[in-house]
Amino acid sequence: MRFSSSLVAISTAVFANGVTAASNSSLPRVSIIATGGTIAGTNSDSTSTTGYKAGSLGVDALIEAVPALSNISSVSGIQFSNIGSQNMNTSLLLRLTKLATNVAANGSADGIVITHGTDTLEETAMFLDLTYNESLPIAMAAAMRPSTALSADGPFNIYEAVALAGSKEAADRGVMIVLNDRIGSAMYTTKTNTRAVDTFKAAEQGYLGVFNDEVPVFYFEPSRVYKKPFFDVSGVDALPRVDILYGNIDMDVRLLNYSVSSGAEGVVIACAGDASLPDAWADAAQAFTEQGIPVVRASRTGSGYVAPADDTLTSGNFNPQKARILLQLVLNEHGGKNSTLIQEYFDPYLS
Ligand code: SIN
Repeated sequence: MRFSSSLVAISTAVFANGVTAASNSSLPRVSIIATGGTIAGTNSDSTSTTGYKAGSLGVDALIEAVPALSNISSVSGIQFSNIGSQNMNTSLLLRLTKLATNVAANGSADGIVITHGTDTLEETAMFLDLTYNESLPIAMAAAMRPSTALSADGPFNIYEAVALAGSKEAADRGVMIVLNDRIGSAMYTTKTNTRAVDTFKAAEQGYLGVFNDEVPVFYFEPSRVYKKPFFDVSGVDALPRVDILYGNIDMDVRLLNYSVSSGAEGVVIACAGDASLPDAWADAAQAFTEQGIPVVRASRTGSGYVAPADDTLTSGNFNPQKARILLQLVLNEHGGKNSTLIQEYFDPYLS
């Protein structure tokens, strides 16, 4: 333990919004922003890990479930939303990054934890990492088992995320994902398994670090994803619609046509293998890209680099759902006409 609980005087306060905070001025101040998910989920019995209601506990209950937080931090809670992360959307993401930026800018915290559902955690993490430009760390915590389950993983993940967000070593590392004793990069970490607690991985890039009890142990100095861009969305209320279409044998090109005719300003295709497309799709994708509706080939395989192609854009190291987030932000900033410029965001090694 880095802090002896006998040496610190802990007081608890209940704020007007009903949030309980453990406060001690000598400890790092960590603001926990709760968005919902299984980590805040409850079920009728302790042995069911399916069929539960995500997002039923408030941030006060999440904090109270981990009394040991008061040994390592002075935590406060903000209830941002209480949703299953399948209901996260662009409008909420824009508000979330503004909230995190405000918390960082107003000096009320030394670190931020965001609790979130695991299903779309990687998309929110990437969005925040591309739109949040403060040195105050953000550690995202989630859980695969609801709070009522035997061996619920949420409390320990929150504990480690708070320890990470409050540690000096976390500064200038942007947004990180904390589950199962690992620290993952927001840009590359993805959910790889529907049920397993050990589901978040980055097959190509690996982890940033682990925990020794609550002490984060980083493998690298603070570093940036190669030429990682920053998108200022402080004045932005909406982003262009980008669809993802799934590749398979017999894929019908009318899906791509419909996507564009119904308003998508860009399309990502989760293609088979090394992002191959049937001829009819390749032709249509090239035509749309040339018209300023970029079509990005990504891979449905789950890992691997997709190299540039002549006819369409390609996703580089990003999976389809992460490529979609990046394309939304690039389209918002530059529009869809300059495909060379857009490709450089996906593949910065080229320029
Ligand atoms: C969700 O993503 O909100 C539900 C699933 C989970 O958190 O594991």
